[in-house]
Amino acid sequence: MNSSRVRVGVVGASGYSGLELLRILAYHEGVEVTYAAGSRNGTEPLRDSTPFLPESIASLRTESFHPDRASDLCDAVFVGLPSGASGAIALELWKRGKTVIDLSGDLRLPKGAYESWYKKEALVQHPKDVGAVYGLTEWNRTQIQSARLIANPGCYATAALLALLPVVRSGLARSGMPIVIDAKSGVSGAGRKPAQNTLLGELQENFYAYKVGAHQHTPEIQTQLGLSDPASIVLTTQLLPTVRGIFISAYIPVHTPISADDVMVLYQNAYEEEPFIHVHPPGRYPELKHVRGSNLCHIGFHVHTAPGLLQVFSVIDNLQKGAAGQAVQNFNLIYGFPETTGLRVSPMYP
Ligand SMILES: NC(=O)c1ccc[n+]([C@@H]2O[C@H](COP(=O)([O-])OP(=O)(O)OC[C@H]3O[C@@H](n4cnc5c(N)ncnc54)[C@H](OP(=O)(O)O)[C@@H]3O)[C@@H](O)[C@H]2O)c1
Repeated sequence: MNSSRVRVGVVGASGYSGLELLRILAYHEGVEVTYAAGSRNGTEPLRDSTPFLPESIASLRTESFHPDRASDLCDAVFVGLPSGASGAIALELWKRGKTVIDLSGDLRLPKGAYESWYKKEALVQHPKDVGAVYGLTEWNRTQIQSARLIANPGCYATAALLALLPVVRSGLARSGMPIVIDAKSGVSGAGRKPAQNTLLGELQENFYAYKVGAHQHTPEIQTQLGLSDPASIVLTTQLLPTVRGIFISAYIPVHTPISADDVMVLYQNAYEEEPFIHVHPPGRYPELKHVRGSNLCHIGFHVHTAPGLLQVFSVIDNLQKGAAGQAVQNFNLIYGFPETTGLRVSPMYP
């Protein structure tokens, strides 16, 4: 083992987010992947269970999680289990002095909101009580740099917040009228666990809404936008017959008059220096294939002058900027690596 590298582990390594983390971390020049936990593949070496992963980590075995093993073998751990299981493991490792990035929703919300939207018992009164920092990298850099426990944002929340924050923070959005977020995801957003509604026969050539009025990312988006009224957000989540990608169309009632140039300036001010965010000029709009397989977020917009409505589009790859990519971006910040380390990948096209 190269002792100058950060020793990292992935818990949930047999899941989609965990596998994406391994895919990124295997080529990260500052880390040594020393631990992988997740029961689906027993103790088979990754070489056998996931032959598409690179040779550098092929001999690693995916083992059942044990906090002692994780603590002994790792400086930092990414935890990507379902909400309800993930946060407890993240907290256990954080208490043992590890740097932890939790990909679940367990440490993103205060107790009341968590329990009413996730229908599970909260682990903490408030994530701040354990120093958990919300890991929306572009908007929380200073806090992330000095954190040891990161609540990595949800995939829909990442796409929505990156699109909406410049507008809401500018004061351009009109209060008292909801922001409507029409959100669509590829099926890998539902995870690897088999379910009837994600079968090829159900999804191919189909398209449907789910969890309408009940999606758990609603309060995450609302609180991170700094909006106190839960009714200020209407989120509709829908499943696309694709594997990767999130496409958001958001409708924001705005004070008029505004021009497309005004809006472009807002986005340029927010994101001009950002390596992973690309803002399309007026008249051009993002597509899923602009970001697939990469940590990029592409944003576009249109001003509907007459009703005073700003329409904003954003696209991300749910497993990259929506999960593993952003988690590594946060890890890079914490350990002082250039933020793009391990993440300089062009999207796959077509
Ligand atoms: N998929 C996305 O696009 C995405 C985006 C952002 C955030 N997230 C979040 O990331 C986390 C992982 O999501 P995913 O989509 O990668 O899920 P997934 O593909 O279903 O993988 C879940 C992983 O957790 C393990 N696991 C399941 N139940 C467990 C339990 N009760 N105790 C211990 N381990 C358990 C699984 O192990 P087995 O192999 O044994 O089943 C697997 O390794 C979730 O909290 C999700 O909300 C996902």
